[in-house]
Amino acid sequence: MTTENSLRKRDSSKKSWAEPWKVKMVEPTRWTTRQYRAERIQEAGFNTFLLKSEDVYIDLLTDSGTSAMSDYQWAGLMLGDEAYAGSRNFYHLEANIQKFYGYKYIVPTHQGRGAEHLVSQIYIKKGDVVPGNMYFTTTRIHQELAGGSFEDVIVDEAHDPQSERPFKGDVDLGKLEDLIKGVGRDRIPYVSLAATVNMAGGQPVSMQNVRELRALCDGYGVPVLLDATRAIENAYFIQQREEGYRDKKVADILLEFCSYTHGSWMSAKKDSLVNIGGWLALNDWNKFEEARNLVVVYEGLHTYGGLAGRDMEAMARGIEESVDDGHIRARVGQVEYLGGKLLDWEVPIVLPIGGHAVFLDAKRFYPHIPQDRFPAQTLAAQIYIEAGVRTMERGILSAGRDPETGRHRYPKLELVRVAIPRRVYTQAHMDVTAEAIEEVFWNRDRAKGLKLVYEPKYLRFFQARLEPV
Ligand SMILES: Cc1ncc(COP(=O)(O)O)c(C=O)c1O
Repeated sequence: MTTENSLRKRDSSKKSWAEPWKVKMVEPTRWTTRQYRAERIQEAGFNTFLLKSEDVYIDLLTDSGTSAMSDYQWAGLMLGDEAYAGSRNFYHLEANIQKFYGYKYIVPTHQGRGAEHLVSQIYIKKGDVVPGNMYFTTTRIHQELAGGSFEDVIVDEAHDPQSERPFKGDVDLGKLEDLIKGVGRDRIPYVSLAATVNMAGGQPVSMQNVRELRALCDGYGVPVLLDATRAIENAYFIQQREEGYRDKKVADILLEFCSYTHGSWMSAKKDSLVNIGGWLALNDWNKFEEARNLVVVYEGLHTYGGLAGRDMEAMARGIEESVDDGHIRARVGQVEYLGGKLLDWEVPIVLPIGGHAVFLDAKRFYPHIPQDRFPAQTLAAQIYIEAGVRTMERGILSAGRDPETGRHRYPKLELVRVAIPRRVYTQAHMDVTAEAIEEVFWNRDRAKGLKLVYEPKYLRFFQARLEPV
């Protein structure tokens, strides 16, 4: 009897976990045929951004603005105070940014790039050099349009998809100091620090690194400005991986992290669980005054910044939910679940698995396709054809052209991002996605690559059109 029981008993050291929510409303999705999808991707110029959403079965294009809001957030929409000036929802938002991120002065913007525009215009002058831990597409274009150029000072391991360094988002302080000395402090308007680093595969920055970065920058009088878009995922990784933080709450880690920076811009469409919204937060009153003045030119009055009162309310409430330990554990846990399956099947992905997405390593996936034939773009198109799963290229197409030479930039990382919206898909969706990618992997020899047939001037990956070579 005892022996039989013990044979049947599952391994009790392996505990399943479940998301800390249940579903109240559903949105139907549509399965289509392979033939139909092959026609749609051709029509879309082999660019997943140009597909219609209704032709997508599982949409993992981005985690930006695609999260499911909670009943608490939806209830907040009904409390929208749609006054032109001084909406009460702005004050709620302001109070929550001050409470959870710790900054003093807040300017709302319609989304992240609205804040990137303001911060770049305020800080950067022609000829400046902005150091940062790897570029981000919209961040860099605003820095360039303001007259600056971006200089990558991330640790070398960030460019190696197989390095398992736990904090691949860290700034290489030696590289940064050499740059400051080389170009002169006067040409460095600020350090552009991202947490986590999207283009490196959702990789975090350690608390030790940001602390030391701040000390170094204080020595030169250079401000540290944070792209806080996924700073809560970063705080979770610090809790899990950095000594001394295991027993701390994610909310406390976030506050400490931000305290080493002078200000921050935010795409609230990610961590903050809303479909639209952003902000700029600064501790320097004079810079804030400039931002508050400039926002009325580009976004709207400084108490709405291009947003409806209800959007600001949803954001204020989303911030409260986003710092909950149970939420963030489940969010990152789902990404790890998908990544774990792919690893088990030996599909090449970026290690360690990121916070918001699994990144497929297209260079190892398609070693026979040269980078200027867009291997990652090819892979994203194939995954769509296979199962209607939409993903995004993060490689040579996203990197764009060097504004000086007009030549392609050749990034070391040639990736497909499989981004997971928050609180939207189930484990079954992850299973279907993993199986589709595995199928494409087994048929990898058939892929030939793509060539560009239309290329817009700015952020070309959004609207470029390609065709098979
Ligand atoms: C790290 C990072 N910064 C900034 C942005 C820009 O934000 P938005 O899309 O809200 O303009 C994004 C969006 O993808 C992002 O991932």
